Amino acid sequence: MHRLLELENYFSSNAYQIGKVIYHYDEVSSTQEIAKEYVEKAVNGMCIIADKQTKGKGRLGRTWHSPQGGLWLSIIIKEIEQPLYLNPILAIACIKMIEQLFQLKAKIYWPNDIYIKDKKVAGILTEGIHCERSIYIAGIGININIDKKYFIDNKLDEATSLYLETGKKENILNVFQDFLIKFNFLYELVQNGALTYIEESYKEYNDLISLWVKVSGQGEEFRGQVVDVDIKNGILVKLKNNIVKNFYPENIESIRRIEFAESL
Ligand code: BTN
Repeated sequence: MHRLLELENYFSSNAYQIGKVIYHYDEVSSTQEIAKEYVEKAVNGMCIIADKQTKGKGRLGRTWHSPQGGLWLSIIIKEIEQPLYLNPILAIACIKMIEQLFQLKAKIYWPNDIYIKDKKVAGILTEGIHCERSIYIAGIGININIDKKYFIDNKLDEATSLYLETGKKENILNVFQDFLIKFNFLYELVQNGALTYIEESYKEYNDLISLWVKVSGQGEEFRGQVVDVDIKNGILVKLKNNIVKNFYPENIESIRRIEFAESL
C-alpha cells in the first residue's frame, strides 16, 4: 500500500472534505473490506483505491468483476446530514465526470447503476456501518480501460467501459481526481442542506421515466409505467389497475425495461 500524496495534497485545501487521506493498493479482496478495517480510526472522507480486486462486491451479494483498468474506490463517510442522498451524489458525480472527461452522455439506471446507452459502465454499493452515527462505506466501480475481450470472456454482455465507448485509454488517477472534485462539491451541498440541485439532477439523469418496466423483488413481480423517480420516494410505477405504487431500492432485485405489449 502507498499513499497518494499528490492527490492528498490537492484535496488538503479547505474547499474539500473528501480525499484528504488516500490509500492505494495494487490488489485487494475488496476495497469495501479494507475500508471496514480502517473505519474506526479513519478521518471523514478517507479513500481506498485498488488496481485490482479479487472479490469485488456488487449489490445484492453479486460479484463485481474488477480487473486492472478500472477505478475501484471506497470512501469512508463519517458525517452526512442526509444519508439518503449519498448514492445519488455518487451517481451524479460519476455522470458529470464522464460528461466532462469523455464527452459522453451517461444515465442512471435506477437505483444507482450508470449506463451508457444500454450498457453498464459503473456501479455503486453503499454499506451502512453505523447508521445512527452516519457512518457509511460508499463504494463505486467505474470500468475505464477494460477491453472487449475481458467482458466477452466473463460473459458480461451488458457491460461496457469508457475505453470501449471512446477508443481512448485514460489515466485512472485523472478520472479519480475529477470524480472526487465533483463528489466533494455535491457532498458540500448535502451538508449545507442545498438539495434542490441534487434532486433535479437525479431526475434529469434518470433513464426510466415514462418507460414500461417489470419490477421484481421479495417474491413478487409488477409491470407498469414509470411515472416518477425521486430520491425520497423511490421509483413510482403506474400499474395496470392505474394504482401508482412506489418501490424502494432495498426491496428490488431487478427492474427491467419491457415493451408496452408485455405490460398488458
Ligand atoms: C453494483 O453495481 O452491483 C455495485 C458495484 C460496486 C463496485 C465497487 S468497486 C469498489 C467497491 N469495492 C467493492 O468490492 N465493491 C465496490
